[in-house]
Amino acid sequence: MTDALSAPIAVPAVTRREEYRAPEWTVPETALDFVLDPSATRVTARLSVRRNGAHDAPLVLDGAGQRPLSVTVDGVAADDWRIEGETLVVPLPGDDHVVETVVEIAPDRNTQLMGLYASGGNLCTQCEAEGFRRITYFPDRPDVLSTYRVRMRADKARFPVLLANGDPVAQGDGDDGTHWAEWHDPFPKPSYLFALVAGDLACNASTFTTRSGRTVALGIYVRANDLPRTDHAMHALKLSMAWDEKVYGREYDLDVFNIVAVDDFNFGAMENKGLNIFNSRYILADPDTATDYDYDAIAAVVAHEYFHNWSGNRVTCRDWFQLSLKEGFTVYRDQQFSADQGSAAVKRIEDVRSLRAAQFPEDAGPLAHPVRPESYIEIGNFYTATIYNKGAELIRMLSTILGPDAFRAGSDLYFARFDGTAATCEDFVACMEEAGGVDLTQFRRWYAQAGTPRVSATLDHQAGSARATLNLGQKVPDTPGQTGKAPQVLPLKVRLFGAETGRPLSDEQLVLLTEPSMRVTFETVTERPVVSLNRGFSAPVVIESDRSAADLAFLARHDDDPFARYEAMQQLMLDTLVAAAVEGAADHEGVIAAVADTLDDPGLDPAFVAEAVLLPSEAFVGDQLSVVDPDAVFRARESLRRDLGRRLEDRWRLSLTAEAGAPYAYTPQAKGARRLRNVALGYVAASQAVDAAALAYAQFAGADNMTDRQGALTALVGGTSDERETALDVFYNRYAGNGLVLDKWFQTQALSSRDDTAALVAQLARHPDFSLANPNRARALVGAFGVNQRAFHVAGGAGYRWLVDQLLALDALNPQTAAKLLPPLGRWRRFTPDRAALMRAELERIVARPGISKDLFEQASKSLEG
Ligand code: TRP
Ligand code: ZN
Repeated sequence: MTDALSAPIAVPAVTRREEYRAPEWTVPETALDFVLDPSATRVTARLSVRRNGAHDAPLVLDGAGQRPLSVTVDGVAADDWRIEGETLVVPLPGDDHVVETVVEIAPDRNTQLMGLYASGGNLCTQCEAEGFRRITYFPDRPDVLSTYRVRMRADKARFPVLLANGDPVAQGDGDDGTHWAEWHDPFPKPSYLFALVAGDLACNASTFTTRSGRTVALGIYVRANDLPRTDHAMHALKLSMAWDEKVYGREYDLDVFNIVAVDDFNFGAMENKGLNIFNSRYILADPDTATDYDYDAIAAVVAHEYFHNWSGNRVTCRDWFQLSLKEGFTVYRDQQFSADQGSAAVKRIEDVRSLRAAQFPEDAGPLAHPVRPESYIEIGNFYTATIYNKGAELIRMLSTILGPDAFRAGSDLYFARFDGTAATCEDFVACMEEAGGVDLTQFRRWYAQAGTPRVSATLDHQAGSARATLNLGQKVPDTPGQTGKAPQVLPLKVRLFGAETGRPLSDEQLVLLTEPSMRVTFETVTERPVVSLNRGFSAPVVIESDRSAADLAFLARHDDDPFARYEAMQQLMLDTLVAAAVEGAADHEGVIAAVADTLDDPGLDPAFVAEAVLLPSEAFVGDQLSVVDPDAVFRARESLRRDLGRRLEDRWRLSLTAEAGAPYAYTPQAKGARRLRNVALGYVAASQAVDAAALAYAQFAGADNMTDRQGALTALVGGTSDERETALDVFYNRYAGNGLVLDKWFQTQALSSRDDTAALVAQLARHPDFSLANPNRARALVGAFGVNQRAFHVAGGAGYRWLVDQLLALDALNPQTAAKLLPPLGRWRRFTPDRAALMRAELERIVARPGISKDLFEQASKSLEG
């Protein structure tokens, strides 16, 4: 026993940004030959290698988990190669050689879903970030670009479809029941963009004609049964292709663009050149199985992966510290795309909500890191909300500062200058600087400094004076390893409104707050002014202003920027909830009146109303407190929800009837009506009206679409009615065999606010349909439970213990997915001392466990230190 505890923990190696060196060998051409078999696949790799610069270092190829069978150099069996750690070292005399390796791998035993693996009987790959090394020996780093020729052979009956990157060049049948196919990708690419798929798949085939008149063959490959659920994704793909031509001038470059959907996938999707591989949840949709939220997410992810063809593939990353170069920019592009498809205001609200739900807490906790990190143990841990979502906010700020035309010119310059190369974040900023004619020296701090800047704002005005002064201050908080930070460039859109007339007193102004403090004066004030700040969420910061509840209510009614209007309402709700959580009670009248006004405003889009009347999440309320007592936050929020439900009961019931009988349509208007109906149903449930469960069940039973069915189920699952149990059973039986819908069944229960959720979730983990091996299922139960503030933090620590039991079990199968589910535990310092101690003890239990992955080790050890 004591041995295990005192045994030195082998601390995994750290990779540092400043240690970047150009590769010693490049690989201009790669030919791969796969003899595919789930239990033993043979991979032959012929690499033409070239010495890069004057040095006498041997060729060092990354590898992981494969069995090396042979190595030849220029066609001759080599005998002086060696395995060092997991790398293959081959001494080479000259500057140009052909090195051929043969290895064997076992896709059906690959549970980590990196490299070549089996999913639902098919074979597929996932190589980003460092999965290619699990397939064959290679310099597995993004700055080694190679052209690939891929040949695959497999059993024809089991794997009738053989796909790889680029264009198909040849195929044929063997005389032993096998067949083969050869693909060639003319665009040099890093190994992380390699992909192949072999399987029994049906294809939704279509075409897209590019603006220069080329015809591209499009294919979405799924199980035959799922074929009817691929039309929405296909439509989104075509919209994306047209949008990138129109908005960024980017045209598709191959003759083929294929997408394959698989059920077992660590992330959302992957942008492999010409062969995107998707988590099936971001492809498959029909009204009966997918919510409006799912439809929107599918379009966004299809667009995201498609847009990577330019921002990621044509121009890739020099090293993984530059990850946000492709991810931040591509998220910004998919956000713009989605905004252009429907309500831009609602899209911005959703994007800011997810930034605050995932990125702000990350930036304020032990795992905080800059958008361009300085070091990592496991790169898989850096596919974070900071790299993706804060990264997207940086690009958005550049666009705000430069204006749309200069931003587009900067993007054109970037693509022209770096096409076919591996670039850095600095390269991107330099293009924006050059094309925009601006100095972005200070802006670059956004890439280097972690932490969410805090902006203080007060408005001074003397009654009767035409002048008002806005006093702004900024502070970038300390984060692990970074203290005493310099001020950043904060682009703040501001406007003044008159408190009496509701009329604007100034134009919208873009203030660049570059100093620790600054004053902005307005000389056109004719009545008491109220300031609208950070309109459109122009900077990803926290605003601390002295605006009164009355002024916030005023802005919630009169602001002409929809985001600012939403934001004023949120701030009013937040102030009320924080007061209630700290003091045990608060005056709800201001919020009730503002919500009533919003519901009564006939000029507002129902989709916007639905967002505006939703209370901030428990987690976000907790983020405002110095010490979080999740029970106090829950009580405060439930009490306000109940009062809103009761006091505005007539209005909620009216909203419930709006378009309720209309047959399903996927239009912005019908989506907005469904959204508001489901928010209203939640408030009716919160009011504890006697007929609340009956109303929810009626919607559940009568629904002709998943949005209404799931909305009703969610309303029921938080309660204790008989209808709850019936609905859960009906839902389960109706969708038995549909994994994506069963995920919803698990997730809805894991998110429930019932007192006994922790116990119910532990029971669900023993359900025959539960499995940690499928990441979607693991996230649906374990991931959802971790963000359920009340259940996860249940007194006594049972939630923490259960989470860690699951993480340790999952770590043995799939470290990357396990590590992604740890962050809720890392917030331990923010909670009441009793909880903090229990959470900390669970983190220590992880770190002490022998044999855990470096993925989980990095997350847990940093969470303890930070
Ligand atoms: N590049 C992918 C995207 O953002 C992300 C991704 C997919 C990924 N699969 C992965 C990242 C596996 C790390 C590991 O679109
Ligand atoms: Zn991406």
